[in-house]
Amino acid sequence: MKTIADLEVAGKRVFVRADLNVPLDGDTITDDGRIRAVAPTIAKLAEAGAKVIVASHLGRPKGAPDPQFSLQPVAKRLGEILGKPVAFATDTVGDSAKATVAALGDGEVTLLENLRFNAGETSKDDAERAAFADQLAALADVYVGDGFGAVHRKHASVYDLPARLPHAAGDLIATEVGVLKKLTEDVKRPYVVVLGGAKVSDKLAVIDELLGKADRLLIGGGMAYTFLKAKGYEVGISLLQEDQIPAVTEYMERAERNGVELVLPVDILASADFPDLKTKAPADFVTVDADKIPSDKEGLDIGPKTRELYASKLADAATVFWNGPLGVFEHPDYAGGTTAIARALLDTDAFTVVGGGDSAAAVRTLGFDETAFGHISTGGGASLEYLEGKTLPGLAALED
Ligand code: 3PG
Repeated sequence: MKTIADLEVAGKRVFVRADLNVPLDGDTITDDGRIRAVAPTIAKLAEAGAKVIVASHLGRPKGAPDPQFSLQPVAKRLGEILGKPVAFATDTVGDSAKATVAALGDGEVTLLENLRFNAGETSKDDAERAAFADQLAALADVYVGDGFGAVHRKHASVYDLPARLPHAAGDLIATEVGVLKKLTEDVKRPYVVVLGGAKVSDKLAVIDELLGKADRLLIGGGMAYTFLKAKGYEVGISLLQEDQIPAVTEYMERAERNGVELVLPVDILASADFPDLKTKAPADFVTVDADKIPSDKEGLDIGPKTRELYASKLADAATVFWNGPLGVFEHPDYAGGTTAIARALLDTDAFTVVGGGDSAAAVRTLGFDETAFGHISTGGGASLEYLEGKTLPGLAALED
């Protein structure tokens, strides 16, 4: 894979496919981690005299402009981080984009509007994607792929566009791939993986792969209740994917056969009500053993015994990968499990990787110093699919 150093960029129009899909509350960016992560690549290209055209998706608009998914607030924040103005084009390949790009001087930066406002970006139809990629290619001379969080998507700007221009990986993608290689090739043991998040169905493929690679798998979050149910426990009104029980049962059996420790919560904070995440009003919950969740309550966090157990299972790790919160961390009464895992990661001497999305946001919103972790990935789905051993379209497109 080529890097920026292999490209001629001075005086050229350089298209940077970034992942600026940040959480927004109205116009307010609640976590700017992804903007900060790609800013050094943009700054490096601008310093080298490129005319930098940054593009990204945000959210999942339906192929047409939708103001709630506008990248305008991101342009402002990117400008603040870079310490220079970022011109904003109000479309992707229309008059505004063409005029903004034409007006760019060497070393200047523009951000295009949300790529997913054009149906060609995410189309399953190769010709429709190709037509949009042709229009994007007409705006630029060179392509830099640096949207790691989107490399698992076969989208026009991720997959089709690099084939049309001289291309290279940006510094963020190079770093992310370097870290994930450490987890897949010659990993230092014990290798402990913590998996949380709501749905077990999103994690099946990675669990399948990890049962042949990891030494220990610690399970939490909403997905844990399908495992507990598969063990025959009552899970009340907790999140449950009944249809996944056979798969989960097979994983527990395979873990046993392979000598992989698959560890489940031993106690749970359970409540009859989902907490109010806006007011954060105190929650009414009970702490119960994992096999005694009352039938009218749902599990919302791992309990204190589980936090201690998981910390002990992390203590001697040489490598840790963590993806997914252990509870409803957005509410202070249910943030304890996720906080305990973050702390346990910091207490080890292990190389620690936090895998994107909600867990990365959790680490930051809970006030941890992100530089204390080995690596915080900008890609949730992308890092999981990498660990599953899949070919990621956005990385394949950058290979020569
Ligand atoms: C993410 O948030 O995981 C990436 O930005 C990809 O977004 P998507 O799941 O909407 O494709």
